[in-house]
Amino acid sequence: MEKLVIDGGKILRGEVDINGAKNAAVAILPAAVLASNGKCLIENIPDIEDVHCLERILTDLGCKINKIDRNTLEVDATTIQRVDACTEDVRRMRASYYFIGALLSRFKEARVELPGGCPIGVRPIDQHIKGFEALGAKVSIEHGAVRVQAEELKGANIFFDVVSVGATINVMIAATLAEGTTSLENVAKEPHVVDVANFLNSMGADIKGAGTDIIRIKGVESLKGCNYSVIPDQIEASTFMIAAAATKGNILIKNVIPKHLESISAKLIEMGVKIEEGDDTVRVYVDEPLKGVNIKTAPYPGFPTDIQQPMSTLLSSVSGRSIITETIWESRHKHIDELKKMGADIKVEGRTAIIDGVKRLTGAIVKATDLRAGAAMVIAGLIAEGVTEIHSIEHIDRGYPHIENKFKDLGASICRKEVE
Ligand code: EPZ
Repeated sequence: MEKLVIDGGKILRGEVDINGAKNAAVAILPAAVLASNGKCLIENIPDIEDVHCLERILTDLGCKINKIDRNTLEVDATTIQRVDACTEDVRRMRASYYFIGALLSRFKEARVELPGGCPIGVRPIDQHIKGFEALGAKVSIEHGAVRVQAEELKGANIFFDVVSVGATINVMIAATLAEGTTSLENVAKEPHVVDVANFLNSMGADIKGAGTDIIRIKGVESLKGCNYSVIPDQIEASTFMIAAAATKGNILIKNVIPKHLESISAKLIEMGVKIEEGDDTVRVYVDEPLKGVNIKTAPYPGFPTDIQQPMSTLLSSVSGRSIITETIWESRHKHIDELKKMGADIKVEGRTAIIDGVKRLTGAIVKATDLRAGAAMVIAGLIAEGVTEIHSIEHIDRGYPHIENKFKDLGASICRKEVE
């Protein structure tokens, strides 16, 4: 077990490179199972624990994985031997549910253990199941696993009851080899949804409309290997934007798509943060006192739920009252108790956090209650007076590649240590 130890109060300055998007990569790797001919060479894959988990699951299914370098994987799914994914790795992570859609699409059957993931609220998969059934699959839950089977898959019109990233991607994957045309409505429009569609199209799929209200998928006979590069991670980029603002620093954040960061940039600008956009960079700096703002999370292009926790740290340290309303997950304020140990003045009422900015946070022993909560605690440690120890950092390692090295390069005093 490891912990992060941060001696706070350093102003962050310099440049940081953003990795490939976790939530795109964790769908693209299972989707690579669809290539019945040729290999997929996938670049810009983040070097994170969730990806390592998926590599093990793919290997267990019989795929050959060739790690070209830290961020490039070659996946050969022509050698696949099994359609059941029921290991500890499958249970540990959320994105393992994409194997249901991928195996169903290619083999017309699958058995995949129910997924785990961050403890941020009830995480149903009823919309995934609704989509698979509409395509003609029989779905049952047996002994903690989802079992799907179909004689054949046929295109269908599917209107999702809620906007779900996972269901949109999973049913899109399942429909790529279905006979005829599928249309998906009330879909998620996140950049990673578009990235997965682009990946599938590179493999020979016929998907149009990803990123808009309706996705249309014309079924094709088979998919083949391709070369692909994952988009930059909008949440990792946003985390560094917030860290720059919180430490009153000046950071050039490189390898980003500024358009994907607009809702975050808009809120930071409203607070008084300065942002300069380049073609694939954003510079973030502070030259005046910042003020509190109100935030309501929403599906893309709204303010992402995945960045509200790091924002709560920043808002704790600026003058005035801020209100964060979380509309996607019902338990995404668990980190607030940890922030309070550091002196934050926050009241949680249901899904709303009412934050009154304090003059300073002070170092304490805290834990990462989930992935983005972990990022919130790292930023708190960076701005706090004195030393902060963050425990349970396995949550952070699931989604942020080498977080301590990136912050160290920006001037932070941060290191990873074994827990005694
Ligand atoms: C994805 O989770 C992300 N995870 C989450 O990021 C992110 O918070 C979330 O999308 C929203 O943007 C991955 O991509 C692996 P949803 P997902 O299906 O797909 C309800 C992070 O920090 N819902 O879009 O599981 C659900 O309860 C992680 O990187 C149903 O009711 O989320 C929620 O209220 C945490 N039925 C809402 O929809 C369903 O069948 C959105 O969930 C599916 C979802």
